[in-house]
Amino acid sequence: MKIAVVGAGYVGLVTASCLSEFGYEVICIDNNKSKINQLKKNIIPIYEPGLSDLVKKNSKSKYLSFSTQISSVKDAKIIFIAVGTPSSRRGDGEADLKYVFNATKDISKYLTKDKDKLIITKSTVPVGTGNEIQRIIYSLRPDLINNKDYFVASNPEFLREGSAIEDFMRPDRVVCGVTSRKAQETLKELYRPLNLREAPIIFTDLESAEIIKYASNAFLAIKISFINEMANLCEKTGGNVQMVAKGMGLDNRIGPKFLHPGPGFGGSCFPKDTRALYSSFKKNKIKNTLIKAVIDFNEHRKISIANKIKKLLKPKIKKKVITILGVTFKPNTDDLRESPSLVIIPQLIKLGAIVRAHDPAFNSEFIKLKEFNKVKWYKNVLEAIKNSDLLVIHTEWNEYRGLDLLKVKKALKRTIILDLRNIFNLEDMKKLNISYHGIGFKSQNEKK
Ligand code: NAD
Ligand code: UGA
Repeated sequence: MKIAVVGAGYVGLVTASCLSEFGYEVICIDNNKSKINQLKKNIIPIYEPGLSDLVKKNSKSKYLSFSTQISSVKDAKIIFIAVGTPSSRRGDGEADLKYVFNATKDISKYLTKDKDKLIITKSTVPVGTGNEIQRIIYSLRPDLINNKDYFVASNPEFLREGSAIEDFMRPDRVVCGVTSRKAQETLKELYRPLNLREAPIIFTDLESAEIIKYASNAFLAIKISFINEMANLCEKTGGNVQMVAKGMGLDNRIGPKFLHPGPGFGGSCFPKDTRALYSSFKKNKIKNTLIKAVIDFNEHRKISIANKIKKLLKPKIKKKVITILGVTFKPNTDDLRESPSLVIIPQLIKLGAIVRAHDPAFNSEFIKLKEFNKVKWYKNVLEAIKNSDLLVIHTEWNEYRGLDLLKVKKALKRTIILDLRNIFNLEDMKKLNISYHGIGFKSQNEKK
């Protein structure tokens, strides 16, 4: 089966690589020439564990190829649209669909009448987008209106950055929104390798599939915000949010996942997708308070973390040296999109602090960001910590979990640690006489 994937970002590249691993002939198309040139040389533009090996292996065996030419879709039976759907620049939270619609228009030119085709949105798109794609294609290609072998489908992606390959290869479920039996059969055939691994495949109408994607992301965002609110309560009243999460999570109806408190959710999806879902409610004139509350709470959380840091450095934060370990929105990625650090760090600098940072995925793109323009970057963790007044763990990279705390204590000027991911143990810190603060519990100093 020949497949074309339009968009070679996190989702497009992972989809193309994984499908080529199943032995399909896949062409991955992107209009970013330098990205495609890199990929042709097996240089992966993103940090994603396992992706490089998969691309190399399948490019070599010729199952996977790359192109900048949208005309390459003409030989494919299945065309995935996997381009970005960022928040619109208007600031109203709506998803900007220009990349999806431009890709649709480009693809339309190359839809052959004689062969059956399935055009599938993998991008996260608001409800109604599949129908709009259909409308655009028919308006540009009226000759296809009566073609019984041409369909639009929705197949949202649920992979997470940092574990994208595993998530694609062993998904909790595959959701396919279809409008015909033939499209359903084609998708069944496509995902047979996953189905054989017992991944449930559910077929729905187009609208349900589109809503399932946003509803899933928003629900997870609600879960994270909920536990962050419980953490705030524990910090005031006593109690430990990790025990609270454990106690809640053992209830099968709740489950233990996505109950880790932190500096607020970030990344390229939860923030933009909660905004886009809220905007779908507004657009349809339906009152919604729950998602809006989560959006507002999460925005405010980053500022409240900066205030927590300010409090720890009492009597004054000005000229104090703060070392931040990890700036990405989560470990195992170099993605900085909507990372809480992009709000917390500028706020600390505004308050007069001197900020140093370390991140295992650091690359030249980090220093280009205006939010980080006063940050001093370090390659070595202990060097970064040396003579600092405060150490903040922002991202729970494995590299930080095994830090030699005695060495850390020696290196710090004031032995204060703020662990925004609770990767250390309060009792160990007590023994070392380190002033240890985390999320959702009172530190030893506060208890005295
Ligand atoms: P991305 O920004 O990393 O990549 C999008 C790619 O599409 C870019 O390389 C861009 O050059 C290319 N592109 C844009 N217009 C094009 C066109 N007309 N022709 C060819 N190429 C074009 O985006 P992403 O993170 O891969 O996300 C893509 C979609 O998948 C979004 O809707 C996102 O919400 C969704 N999604 C993302 C993730 C994730 O973990 N990043 C997970 C699930 C779903
Ligand atoms: C998320 C979803 O998990 C994927 O299913 C979805 O496909 C994807 O968005 C998307 O639509 O793009 P991702 O953004 O890669 O994946 O990362 P997550 O692991 O979900 O983490 C998102 C944010 O929530 C991170 O900032 C993370 O630190 C935070 N988080 C997550 C918590 O604070 N606590 C948790 O318990 C879990």
